[in-house]
Amino acid sequence: LNKTESPGALQGKHVVITAGPTREAIDPVRYLSNYSSGKMGYALATAAQAAGARVTLISGPVQLSTPSGVQRIDVITADDMLKATQAVTDMDVFIGCAAVADFRPASMASQKMKKQHGEDSLQLSLVKNPDILAWVAKQSPKPFCVGFAAETQNLDHYAKDKMQRKNLDMIIANDVSNTNIGFNSDHNAVTVFWQNNKKHLEAQSKQSIATEVIGFIAQQTTSQPE
Ligand code: CTP
Ligand code: CA
Repeated sequence: LNKTESPGALQGKHVVITAGPTREAIDPVRYLSNYSSGKMGYALATAAQAAGARVTLISGPVQLSTPSGVQRIDVITADDMLKATQAVTDMDVFIGCAAVADFRPASMASQKMKKQHGEDSLQLSLVKNPDILAWVAKQSPKPFCVGFAAETQNLDHYAKDKMQRKNLDMIIANDVSNTNIGFNSDHNAVTVFWQNNKKHLEAQSKQSIATEVIGFIAQQTTSQPE
């Protein structure tokens, strides 16, 4: 029996997933963000739920409906996402799928910023956001931690380096140099790394990528029969 393909492979596990972009306010009407659609994270939530897990989805602002049976917590900023993550108890698996803004404006202007007469440029001062996935991976007990690495070059090298630096159990490398798949698309092609394994998943729907990835996670987190 292949445990990863049997229903209920994640029965009794609590899977926590971050998804979508974060937004970092510049002033009351403007923000910094990115093109993340949230589709990959939502597909993972759907697949984890189908595998019998209890699923908490911590979501940035996206245009997607909540997968049935999934508990969704909406957040806007990276700071909110960290706080929501820190408030979750009993995680067995954490999947950082969100495209967290790496930086936020050092301060938010309380009023809409106006153009200054005679100035043709504007300098915005940014500060680093907390790394949510790295925070989770430093906890003890540590849940099984899965990260994503969106790269445009040196995919394997950067992905493995991220896995090591953040103390992750698995990383999913996403080549975002191909603009036809990834980000807003319903399809994706990824390479998954864990321990000494490397598995390439050819271009296919995000939902079927998610099912495969959840299968790998189940394999690694469920005690194997002798
Ligand atoms: N991540 C996170 N919090 C951040 C930044 C990233 O939780 N502040 C998570 C992402 O959800 C992803 C992983 O870390 O699972 C890697 O994100 P990525 O942007 O590829 O890597 P960074 O560590 O931010 O490095 P860089 O953007 O410089 O490549
Ligand atoms: Ca980043």
